[in-house]
Amino acid sequence: MPGNKSELKSLRATKYTSSLRRSGGIDRLRGSSYRAGLRLLDLLDRTRGREHRFLPPRRYRRFIGNGDFLKVGREITAYMRDELGMGPSHDVLDAGCGAGRVAIPLTDVLTEGSYLGFDIVPHAIEWCSSTIGARHPNFRFEHVDIRQEIYNPEGRLSASDVRFPAEDSSFDIAALVGLISHLMPEEMDNYLAESARVLRAGGRCFATAYLVDDKVAENISRGNTAFSFTHDHGNYFVHSKEEPTYAIAYRLEHIQAVAARYDLRMCQEPRLGTWGVSTRRPASMDLLVLERA
Ligand SMILES: C[S@@+](CC[C@H](N)C(=O)[O-])C[C@H]1O[C@@H](n2cnc3c(N)ncnc32)[C@H](O)[C@@H]1O
Repeated sequence: MPGNKSELKSLRATKYTSSLRRSGGIDRLRGSSYRAGLRLLDLLDRTRGREHRFLPPRRYRRFIGNGDFLKVGREITAYMRDELGMGPSHDVLDAGCGAGRVAIPLTDVLTEGSYLGFDIVPHAIEWCSSTIGARHPNFRFEHVDIRQEIYNPEGRLSASDVRFPAEDSSFDIAALVGLISHLMPEEMDNYLAESARVLRAGGRCFATAYLVDDKVAENISRGNTAFSFTHDHGNYFVHSKEEPTYAIAYRLEHIQAVAARYDLRMCQEPRLGTWGVSTRRPASMDLLVLERA
């Protein structure tokens, strides 16, 4: 997620969201100088030789969040391979695939299976299709015009009843990486229902999230977490009252209860990140694995 309010401003300055269109001249000026700076840095990258053939330009990487884009993608992929048993012939759905952070390292793993990534930001999908998809025909990317206050405020569809662009029982893994933290409760409910629908029996839903148990709730109340999440709504906590979908943390038992309604069962203890035990940033999220009955 974008780390703080200034990250949110820079997210807007990348012209990823149409919020910029609503903003005034000064913001627009700031946005264009910011974009020019990113282009300059990309040019320097090119002259020095890029690290990876699929590394997206900075303006496409920036809205994903902090950290080393390629390194984080490799770590997530390694977790999916080692902990979820993902193999070369698996079919993987990546909901909210962004600029391909997970898809890029997956191209080395899914040599016989398939990958479908969808996202609500058209430029990111165009970029992924024309680079990753062009070289790997078993990798497909789809734009779905879902409304989201930060990433796509003028989208046509609602996340609380949208259907994933996939057939029933057609995937082994449904990944929701950096996504649940942007979904309001009824949207999160629908995304778990849809994950369950597209998974085969025994398939796994893999999600990163900000998970709250009693200990973390206490840390939140004492200001001992990386994001403040001070607005407590019972089952969920929001970081910014004005823009709730900027970052949402969920009670673990709430996610488990919703998942159970769709025959998704937590099959291993979540791997806890650092965000809930320390104020240090950058902070990592928690990892959750749910198995489809
Ligand atoms: C923090 S980024 C993570 C992107 C990618 N999963 C990754 O790990 O690099 C969150 C992504 O979720 C997408 N997104 C936000 N709301 C969404 C929704 N309701 N449905 C699908 N994608 C959504 C955003 O456009 C953005 O690409």
